[in-house]
Amino acid sequence: MRNLFIVLVAVACLCGCDRRSEAERFADDLMSRMTLREKVGQMSQFAPQTGVVTGPEGEPMDLNALIKAGEVGSVLNVKTPEEIWELQRLAVDSSRLGIPILFGHDIIHGCKVIFPINLGSACSWNVEAVKESARIAAAEAAAMGIAWTFSPMCDVSADPRWGRVSEGSGEDPYLAAKLSAAMVEGYQGEELADSTTIMACVKHFAAYGAPEAGRDYNTVDMSERMFRDRYLPPYVAALDAGAATVMTSFNDFNAIPASGSRWLLKELLRDELGFDGFVVSDYRAVTEMIAHGVARDTTEAAYKAMKACLDMEMVSGSYLNSVEELVKEGLVSEKEIDAMCRNVLVAKYNLGLFEDPFRYGGAERFAGSIYRPEDLAFARSIARESMVLLKNEGEVLPLDGGERIALIGPYISSPRAMLGSWTAFRDYDRTVTIGQGFEERFPGKVTMTAGCGPYAEIDGGIAQAVRAARNADVAVLTLGLPGEFSGEAASMTSVELPQAQKNLLAAVKAAGKPVVVLLTTGRPMALESVIDDMDALFLAWHPGTEGGHAIADVISGDHSPSGHLVMSFPRCDGQIPIRYNHKATGRPLEGTAPDPLISMKKLYKSCYLFTPDTPLYPFGYGLSYTEFEFDSLEVVDKDNIHIGDDVTVRVRVSNVGDRDGATVAQLYMRDMAASTTRPVRELKGFERLHLRKGELRVVEFVLTAEDMSFWREDMKFGQEPGEFRLWLGNHSDATLEASFTVRP
Ligand code: BGC
Repeated sequence: MRNLFIVLVAVACLCGCDRRSEAERFADDLMSRMTLREKVGQMSQFAPQTGVVTGPEGEPMDLNALIKAGEVGSVLNVKTPEEIWELQRLAVDSSRLGIPILFGHDIIHGCKVIFPINLGSACSWNVEAVKESARIAAAEAAAMGIAWTFSPMCDVSADPRWGRVSEGSGEDPYLAAKLSAAMVEGYQGEELADSTTIMACVKHFAAYGAPEAGRDYNTVDMSERMFRDRYLPPYVAALDAGAATVMTSFNDFNAIPASGSRWLLKELLRDELGFDGFVVSDYRAVTEMIAHGVARDTTEAAYKAMKACLDMEMVSGSYLNSVEELVKEGLVSEKEIDAMCRNVLVAKYNLGLFEDPFRYGGAERFAGSIYRPEDLAFARSIARESMVLLKNEGEVLPLDGGERIALIGPYISSPRAMLGSWTAFRDYDRTVTIGQGFEERFPGKVTMTAGCGPYAEIDGGIAQAVRAARNADVAVLTLGLPGEFSGEAASMTSVELPQAQKNLLAAVKAAGKPVVVLLTTGRPMALESVIDDMDALFLAWHPGTEGGHAIADVISGDHSPSGHLVMSFPRCDGQIPIRYNHKATGRPLEGTAPDPLISMKKLYKSCYLFTPDTPLYPFGYGLSYTEFEFDSLEVVDKDNIHIGDDVTVRVRVSNVGDRDGATVAQLYMRDMAASTTRPVRELKGFERLHLRKGELRVVEFVLTAEDMSFWREDMKFGQEPGEFRLWLGNHSDATLEASFTVRP
């Protein structure tokens, strides 16, 4: 059978036509020999019972029997390269047509070498580095036998209650679009058939990042304008970068579950956005339409998903179980099935699986391809760039003066706190913990004690921590949330520090030594109630395999911190969701509201009574050990700008401190009077800059007509004339200002 495929592939390649039609011809020829069940088999994805668990358990099924029957197009969550090849061999040798299986997995922020969680890497604002991390992850995954990752997650979110913010690029659509596209380019490389690249999957389509009240899988209901302006851009950017597949989201979107939404999957995705790859459902999302209350049974769920043009069903098996009935009753035509099956076969063709089903993986290749020293070095550098210094009173940091350090807190020795969620192939013993990183960098200077657990007090723990702090020059506290409490199914109603940690912090602060907090977390946290107890606040996220080294690199001043937030840090839970790019309202609050208890009067402004409406740390924020200044903001040829023109903006950035360092120049824009309300600020350009001490650089940004366009009152995407204001600096509250007018 394998030889026959190779001949067919060769014949297809000899025709001088483009690859898609080559692949389609191949698929059509193959489908002419396939039964209905075999076709729907290609549209079905299953996980082995012994695999990595990424969703609720279902009915037990016999995967091997299904493979032999030619009824499995794809398998996810297989644990080892050996098992992958075993299953592939079964498909190729024992099924009637020997169609190779497509193996998929969640390679979300690294495969063996784990990089910072995606939210952390995004804080580097380093598009090339994010792309490189995806490239390395793809190479390791491909060496395992995996040809498809369920990444990037393109869901914009401003709600840290939602655990999955850790997998995304934050609250801003412009930045998330750039990073999502970079990840696709990193995974897929130049050529999908290259055995070191894998297919990307744009997920979760759509608007999964806006669940009501931050509860995972919850309803999303929003205007189409808001969806298109704020949520759609990263998905589109990833598709434009060539993403081969898309995954539906679990949520209902404007009352239709995404997996059954013909508007989302056909009209928008295929007809409008021109996507021609294949769409996979999320885990059991097809049959979950029953619980959503839009399908009576699995057959109706399968019917709705097929009618929406959902090409492949993940895990729940309703396609296979229902197809004969649906076709017999004329509800779904074989032509419709062919179109979906073709999309899957084309992807396999493009990956080169028909040429060689064993192109990816193999235990031997795997062993030689993982944990390469250069990849570990890269992991360390992107981890450094992901970390954000939020507070540094009295320049407690860096610790470069030979201080005696009391390292305290529940995460000192926790590899999981370094890794975060979605790390199926992690190795704890290859993970550098905070304690290890400190001991290596500050030999003989560190004492360590936990003080408390993530949530619970330890008997005598606080007293011991206080003693350690007293005997040291500085207390470094590892606080935050455990790695397993971010990601899927990890929503929280409070993102404050757990009480046991608050108690530890207060006690250590009272010991009188400077307190540095190293925050490990997969989401922004609400820290106003404890911030005064911290002299320095250093956000490490879940920084990956090399986390402990990277933290020590920056804490010691060997490298200056350069990360900048991609999600606002709220003051308290009640402010959530909070984002910099909100609308103005008709009663915006300018300045600070007077204390209501003193003035005893209402302001009639859009604000809270006892809490400012600003975050504790805004989007884009991040300190360094050196200082940067921005000046001379200039709009080139500002009196001669018309609809359709590019606008060039220049600014001078200087490192005026006494160390080398990096910062991120960020350009924000506001359309002052438009046909619809527009955000008070929108990121429209950024550049990560490394400047030597004393160095000055002129940075130029170009705003295109598209950058100034939006979904207007007439629901067309386009520009409008009028005044635009700009701000430039290294956070979203930047005050350096300019403006220009776009004329008709
Ligand atoms: C998640 C997806 C993931 C899939 C497969 C689902 O529960 O929502 O993001 O790709 O499982 O593991």
